Amino acid sequence: MNQISEPGTTFGGSWTEKKLEILERYIDAYTTALKNKPFKLIYIDAFAGTGYVESQDKDAEDFIHGSAARAVGITDRAFDKLIFIEKDQSRCLELENLRQKHSYRDIQIENVDSNDYLKNLHKDWRKYRGVLFLDPFATQVQWSTIETIASFNALDTWILFPTYAVARMLPRSKKPDDIRPGWAKRLTIVFGDESWRNLYQISPQLNLFGTVEHERASGVNGLIDIYKSKLESLFQDRFLSKSRTLKNSKNSALFEFLFCVGNPSGITPAKRIAKHILERI
Ligand SMILES: C[S@@+](CC[C@H](N)C(=O)[O-])C[C@H]1O[C@@H](n2cnc3c(N)ncnc32)[C@H](O)[C@@H]1O
Repeated sequence: MNQISEPGTTFGGSWTEKKLEILERYIDAYTTALKNKPFKLIYIDAFAGTGYVESQDKDAEDFIHGSAARAVGITDRAFDKLIFIEKDQSRCLELENLRQKHSYRDIQIENVDSNDYLKNLHKDWRKYRGVLFLDPFATQVQWSTIETIASFNALDTWILFPTYAVARMLPRSKKPDDIRPGWAKRLTIVFGDESWRNLYQISPQLNLFGTVEHERASGVNGLIDIYKSKLESLFQDRFLSKSRTLKNSKNSALFEFLFCVGNPSGITPAKRIAKHILERI
């Protein structure tokens, strides 16, 4: 673990460190595997933050390297290009410091919404291979963005699915159409359709007033399964069914860490490496 004392942003506890370690190990192995291939290697951090994360470990240094700094730190076979997308302007200024420290590297900072950026990203993907990291706070990743990424056939993609945030939008028990309209709209943007409504079954018990109520099964497995089956339909063999549940100190599932391969020719090694890392960290 890289530990340093620089300004950053507080993003969470040891699940954050686990997430970053999985990503770092993957990009390290990925760049080594493609060392002698004739591609330009690109890293896209779609929710880049500042480059640094405040450590939750009281015994450790104050800050640890965030995803952007870790990607810059891969030097055995360095990425040829790094794109850091960050909506918050002050965080972009911190990223600018990181860029200046590594001025010899091709680092591009985009102070925009990552969904807009990725959906309008046009590259000759025959020349590029790379890794994309989707690390939102909550429900910011749109399904239409995932569809665009799948069409590139070039970027191995790590996705943080916001289990906790989605579950909070889905009350256990409800009357028909009892979910806040704003939340229903957001869920449909995240899932790309209304499949999340299938989580509700008619409750066997009528409520006190005799009206029909719907219930969602306890736990979060149902909603994760819907998202995973959508990824599998889209990416087919490029989707890795093994994933990692990231939990907070109270053992609540916060995010599901998911992986999809970019180019079909890389399915076997990419899945092998990702699975190996997920099983060990
Ligand atoms: C969990 S943090 C990212 C942490 C970072 N990956 C790291 O390891 O250091 C999420 C970041 O996404 C940014 N963000 C939120 N919505 C965004 C959007 N729609 N497009 C781009 N960035 C966004 C936030 O400002 C925040 O810095």
